[in-house]
Amino acid sequence: MSTNTMSTNTKNQIDQTPEGWDTISKAYSHGFTQLYAIDALDLTIGKNGTKDDIKILDVGCGTGALTLNALYKIKDSKNSFILSTDFSPSMLKILSDKVRENKIDNIETKIMDGQNMVGIQDNTFDFAYSVFGLIYFPDRNKGFKEMHRVLKASGKVAITSWLSTTPFCEMLTTGLSHFTTIDAKQSPYKKGLLSLADKQQFKQEMIAAGFKDVEIHTVHHNMVIPAGTSCASLFHDNPVYECLFDYIPREKQDELDKVMDDYVSKNYPNLILNSAGYIGIGTK
Ligand SMILES: C[S@@+](CC[C@H](N)C(=O)[O-])C[C@H]1O[C@@H](n2cnc3c(N)ncnc32)[C@H](O)[C@@H]1O
Repeated sequence: MSTNTMSTNTKNQIDQTPEGWDTISKAYSHGFTQLYAIDALDLTIGKNGTKDDIKILDVGCGTGALTLNALYKIKDSKNSFILSTDFSPSMLKILSDKVRENKIDNIETKIMDGQNMVGIQDNTFDFAYSVFGLIYFPDRNKGFKEMHRVLKASGKVAITSWLSTTPFCEMLTTGLSHFTTIDAKQSPYKKGLLSLADKQQFKQEMIAAGFKDVEIHTVHHNMVIPAGTSCASLFHDNPVYECLFDYIPREKQDELDKVMDDYVSKNYPNLILNSAGYIGIGTK
């Protein structure tokens, strides 16, 4: 998919393109990310949900990790509404098929780049979320500002990111450093997966976009790797894994997977990867 274009590549990384996410869509499971989505909902709308009529925006919704869980939060309200957006048509189709098949009438899906949410008016939403979506935007500031723009005056935002110590992130960076001398700051991950891995920077970027009362929460969930499964193989085709092939020749894939699996079995022999994530919360 990618070629070895490290020195000349001025295009977006594969994890910053709709095509990159289209490729993984059928195999993508939001089973793990939804745990963080539920935390984001609990921290903003509250564990018990709401009876109020509210408008919710999900940016980079993928197959619906946040959207589908948000439905439970608004089940006792009459006229609440969710707009779910993503720039990957294939990811979005999986969610829109579910919405249609289950005759859900208060979710609308729309293809949209989160950096430029044309068509959404200012001050529209009570709550806006991006669960591991905004971290991939080449222009995060635009993404933050767009979310700020479309929130109502009293609205709340929640955005999630990974830490560099999160085991699957360390697995990927371990693979990269085994084959190259690239340091983490120049690796693809500083532009995507780990773009908001620094808590202070995360907070500063939210404040710079205009958010108030900003708090960065740390939450943990276990990623459980089935016994006998190569952890590296679970990421095949995922653009965060495919990014590595801009730096490591594809013919080294078996070797790369072995390095990554050795890292996992040495550090997590029980195959339970306790995984930290940050949730940035703010108000308009
Ligand atoms: C890791 S997935 C997360 C999906 C979902 N939120 C979840 O938690 O499972 C990242 C998602 O962000 C989307 N995405 C990345 N960059 C985007 C952009 N500029 N505009 C809209 N969506 C974007 C991708 O298409 C993908 O669906």
